[in-house]
Amino acid sequence: MKISFIGCGNMAKAMIGGILKKQLCDAKNIMATNSSEKNCVRNRQEMGIETTTDNRAAAGWADIVVLSVKPQIYEKTIAEIKDVITKKQLVITIAPGKTLAWLADQFGKDVKLIRCMPNTPALVGEGMTGACHNELVTSQELETALQILNSFGRTVVVSEHLMDAVGGVSGSSPAYIFMMIEAMADAAVAEGMPRGQAYEFAAQAVLGSAKLVLETGKHPGELKDMVCSPGGTTIQGVGVLEERGFRSAMMEAIRACVEKGRNM
Ligand SMILES: NC(=O)c1ccc[n+]([C@@H]2O[C@H](COP(=O)([O-])OP(=O)(O)OC[C@H]3O[C@@H](n4cnc5c(N)ncnc54)[C@H](OP(=O)(O)O)[C@@H]3O)[C@@H](O)[C@H]2O)c1
Repeated sequence: MKISFIGCGNMAKAMIGGILKKQLCDAKNIMATNSSEKNCVRNRQEMGIETTTDNRAAAGWADIVVLSVKPQIYEKTIAEIKDVITKKQLVITIAPGKTLAWLADQFGKDVKLIRCMPNTPALVGEGMTGACHNELVTSQELETALQILNSFGRTVVVSEHLMDAVGGVSGSSPAYIFMMIEAMADAAVAEGMPRGQAYEFAAQAVLGSAKLVLETGKHPGELKDMVCSPGGTTIQGVGVLEERGFRSAMMEAIRACVEKGRNM
């Protein structure tokens, strides 16, 4: 299996890292493109993969082509490679707002399409990806794509109408969680804790809490109640967060993100 990444920045590198770690294919069977030769050299040295500035050559070379450029240049990039894409190849997209119908329209012919939304925790093998596909993708091809996506975390196949929600709840939400970790650590620093230690305490608390949700299957509200002893310290903090609109701020942030993604 040969895989090409058209555009090799943060997300592509996270995905390639997972593929190499799980040994899904050899580094020599992965090709990635950048517009700058300097980035090609760096990516070749860092990951041992093939690199080129020629998007058409990379797109024609692989069985699976991942479009990992910014959404703003999807249209231009598809126009550049569409002639060399055949109906045997699988095209995986990772941009928000680019629907299967829009993508098919840009290619102007039958192309096997898998539309995904990963996130940057993929860099440490803890990504969360939502995926949907068009009717040309066989169950075996979907299985291969899921193997790739699962190499850097979890993947759930969803109906396409939920892809914008995926972009908000997992694609972009790591940014909000990092802000929360930073704020939690700042509060500990204000109490005299050294900064490095404060990040460790805050981040591990978030990691452990997330694991509790995933591994126990308990309702987050029940897990919150387990921390809040009657008359205790935690419920005082819960009161402040409710007063300051913590939950509605998070809901509004994700809603704004989903709205932007829908219109990209
Ligand atoms: N970052 C996230 O959290 C995240 C999450 C989910 C989905 N995504 C999606 O993933 C895609 C990539 O995002 P990213 O965060 O990885 O962006 P990024 O770090 O900016 O990577 C994009 C890469 O594309 C290369 N590039 C630009 N123009 C090119 C061209 N004409 N031909 C070939 N390569 C070109 C750039 O390198 P050169 O300048 O050297 O060309 C850059 O390394 C986007 O569609 C984004 O929406 C990102």
